[in-house]
Amino acid sequence: MEKKYKRTLVTTALPYANGPVHIGHLAGVYVPADIYTRFLRLRGEDVVMIGGSDEHGVPITIRARKEGVTPQDVVDRYHNLIKDSFEELGISFDIYSRTTSDIHSETASEFFRHIYEKNGFVEKPSMQLYDPEAERFVADRYVVGECPVCHAQGAYGDQCEKCGSSLNATELINPRCAETGATPVLKETRHWYLPLENYQEALEKWILEGHKEWKTNVYGQCKSWLDLGLQPRAVTRDLDWGIPVPVEGAEGKVLYVWFDAPIGYISNTKELLPDTWEKYWKDPESRIINFIGKDNIVFHCIIFPAMLMAYGDGFQLPDNVPSNEFLNLEGDKISTSRNWAVWLHEYLRDFPGKQDVLRYVLTANAPETKDNDFTWRDFQTRNNSELVAILGNFVNRAVVLTHKYFQGVVPPAGDFQPVDTQAFDDIRAAEKSLTESLETFHFREALRQAMEIARIGNRYLQETEPWKVIKTDSERAGAILNVALQICGNLAVAFEPFLPFMAAKLRTMLSLGELSWQSLGSTGLVPAGTQLGEPVLLFEKIEDDAIQGQLDRLEATKKQNLVDSWKPEPQQPDVPFEDFMKMDIRVGTVLECERVPKADKLLKFLIDDGMEKRTIVSGIAKYYQPEDLVGKQVCFVANFAPRKLKGVLSQGMILSAMNPDGSLVVISPSAEVKPGAQVK
Ligand code: 2FM
Ligand code: ZN
Repeated sequence: MEKKYKRTLVTTALPYANGPVHIGHLAGVYVPADIYTRFLRLRGEDVVMIGGSDEHGVPITIRARKEGVTPQDVVDRYHNLIKDSFEELGISFDIYSRTTSDIHSETASEFFRHIYEKNGFVEKPSMQLYDPEAERFVADRYVVGECPVCHAQGAYGDQCEKCGSSLNATELINPRCAETGATPVLKETRHWYLPLENYQEALEKWILEGHKEWKTNVYGQCKSWLDLGLQPRAVTRDLDWGIPVPVEGAEGKVLYVWFDAPIGYISNTKELLPDTWEKYWKDPESRIINFIGKDNIVFHCIIFPAMLMAYGDGFQLPDNVPSNEFLNLEGDKISTSRNWAVWLHEYLRDFPGKQDVLRYVLTANAPETKDNDFTWRDFQTRNNSELVAILGNFVNRAVVLTHKYFQGVVPPAGDFQPVDTQAFDDIRAAEKSLTESLETFHFREALRQAMEIARIGNRYLQETEPWKVIKTDSERAGAILNVALQICGNLAVAFEPFLPFMAAKLRTMLSLGELSWQSLGSTGLVPAGTQLGEPVLLFEKIEDDAIQGQLDRLEATKKQNLVDSWKPEPQQPDVPFEDFMKMDIRVGTVLECERVPKADKLLKFLIDDGMEKRTIVSGIAKYYQPEDLVGKQVCFVANFAPRKLKGVLSQGMILSAMNPDGSLVVISPSAEVKPGAQVK
């Protein structure tokens, strides 16, 4: 339900500090959240944007063990990398903190203790999975197995990434310990549970009745959860990395990462605003918006709200929880473990100064209603045909012509002609739709409307042709450029949330002061008499070789993944020894080798087989230059019935081994033997 509000707290899902962030994270959470926050700031609203690294949880300990370092080493490394690259991309957090901070640990401990003291938890013994090899309890990402809901393999002990179901590790079918591969056994332990079922009714009322305006994917996931009936959820774990459970009798136990992480939003607000943080969380006139990933929905819409209700003390629930679908890369699911991603820090290194291009492409192609695909060709086209050809080109023409004809001084506006009025009417219509789209989290559409203003500008110059008018009527040419520069001013405002680096350059070029959203549609943003700054290009063409470099890297990754995931074919059924003895395998020396015309896979060999010499055709032309094979010894099956391949009679088969990528390697003896020697 839309409400009147005085201030907004924008939170962004805290990324795990176990790796760098990639375009999927950006498109799903950080770019939309930043656009929204910048929009509210430009409207003069009271808004703070909170972010930080999620530094507990199993993915971090797994990585640390793999690398032989401490979890603290891992989070220190990635927290700084993530923080710096967000900053460089212009994600304008008011604070980007971390869950290993003292203030967070105090806040999360206090949160647990407060609910504990209100008897808000149920403490009970339970049988949990235990890794007999590593001698420790395993839960969450330490366990993998078959999802009991959709039966996908590889579901984690806390969640199935395939169907999104939130799970308990003991529900997995055929569980395996992720690190040791051992089959876990059940062992008794004690934990604290949040009785979610006590909040079922309140959550139903709040979401199903009160927030029908939420995005369909968010509302739908909540509804399925609620329809299943909520169950108690353990909020502590037997682990050695995390915030210790702050009550007696809980030695060796830590808070579940999904209990501590969302409290990070509170601790980070506290760290930013030690004296006033409470009003953002507890004043009914404040609004909380959680930007999250699709796999975070249940934690933010069910579990964290139930925690806030359990705590009480005036904490408010979020007003909206915008979440996108997934972004794929070149047709494949983005995957950290398969290195199938565009990593932000690498993008910033490979495309310096092009932060806005990535922001633009990720927004124009955002997976708002369905999964979407990022491709490098689309990235190039959107830069060259949209940013350069439409937006950059319009601004450049307006500014350069003003420098050329009026020494860079904004000429006076004349009496508006119908074409001028039409341009401003069109801009106001686009602005209305742009504002509505931003208010309702439709950033893709909003960007389209902002771009529409640049298209209006191009059309306007095309129709009014100031470069011709200047020859006969310099006053009217000046008035036309005045209108064009006002359109540029509108672009500086409209694009600030989306492309802040471009907007800053444009502001300097137009000598604009502070911007405000309310000035959109104005005909007087750049006053006559203003001395413009020097024209600079807002965007540059991206050439094919830059794109090819990225595609080559992905191709190499794909090959590497094939090698890494390669498993030998299962063994064939046994054959009697006599059957093997029927095969006559020999060694021969290659006397001649050439390509078979009109057959790009085939090589024709003349082999010295110690007998009469023979011709063999083999499908290895893609992997060898014929001349490199001459003089080599190869193994071949000698007693295959001869057969014709592309018109050539082949008298046998050369033996090769196949690599994971399908490429072939000819088998040769390890030392020279007499041609015709038998292979036994
Ligand atoms: O999915 C993730 O990457 C989690 N680290 C998100 C946490 S969001 C919040 F609760 F902190
Ligand atoms: Zn599933």
